[in-house]
Amino acid sequence: MEIITTPEAVKKRCKELKKQGKTIALVPTMGYLHAGHLSLIKKARELADIVVVSRFVNPTQFAPNEDLDAYPNDPNHDRTVTEKAGTDILFEPPAGAMYHKDHATWVEVPSLAQGLCGVTRPTHFRGVCTVVTKLFNLIHPDFACFGEKDYQQLTIIRRMVRDLNVDVEIIGCPLIREEDGLAMSSRNAYLTKEERALVPHIRKGLLALQEKAKQGEYSAKNLQDFFARYIKENIPMARIDYCNMVDKDSLEPLETLKDKAVVAAAVYVGKARLLDNILITK
Ligand code: PAJ
Repeated sequence: MEIITTPEAVKKRCKELKKQGKTIALVPTMGYLHAGHLSLIKKARELADIVVVSRFVNPTQFAPNEDLDAYPNDPNHDRTVTEKAGTDILFEPPAGAMYHKDHATWVEVPSLAQGLCGVTRPTHFRGVCTVVTKLFNLIHPDFACFGEKDYQQLTIIRRMVRDLNVDVEIIGCPLIREEDGLAMSSRNAYLTKEERALVPHIRKGLLALQEKAKQGEYSAKNLQDFFARYIKENIPMARIDYCNMVDKDSLEPLETLKDKAVVAAAVYVGKARLLDNILITK
């Protein structure tokens, strides 16, 4: 596995590979890799000749009060597991290398970025879209893999690529869970033992909500209240950021379940803010 640390060098190397007729699949990450990330690398391995993994904790997607400085980091572990998963190039630029001091250009998809996570993180997706665009322009991947765990992020990236005619195929990959149902996340590292024991209830609450919908409860408000009660009973220290029923493509909030919908939730537990989502049908 090649480790490349500068934007210029990765651009040069990927250009050479493309000249040789190789296809490239990119997996953008912020490191502290777990089995969720590795499932994306496995998918990328199936798709293209060359797998590039980026590992960069992107400062522009964190607000000043967020966990940029505390974000978990284990470079040696990440290098070992990416290599073992069949990565050809690991791109890990140092903190200052990706943005000029006077960086001034942003990529935004406001209509999809205002709801859900956008309410508490209003500048987050602008940072995500901008860094992902920069990675696309450096690497020119044929494919780029993103996880359905970050459902809003995946939807926004798809829209950005469609609207700007970016020449890359976005591959959505299933959400990978711990055995007890907890969605894998680098931020699970923030949980205390006590919190960790209770957080699988986020998934259980969404499954119970799905069941409620199957039984004929179609009102978003009632389903949301049901989830709030479930979380209050089972994770007393939790605070729900949101639990919304939305259209699976437009992310428009839905008042009533018509055919199918995504219910996306974010829940604060201790220092962690945990995301999960579920597809519900009538
Ligand atoms: P990060 O949180 O490191 O996630 C990198 C990729 O792994 C994302 O596409 C995310 O959806 C996926 N992923 C994380 N946990 C997963 C799980 N349990 N199952 C399946 N996929 C999972 O998302 C980011 O980084 C950043 O915003 C990034 C896109 C790299 C831009 O900075």
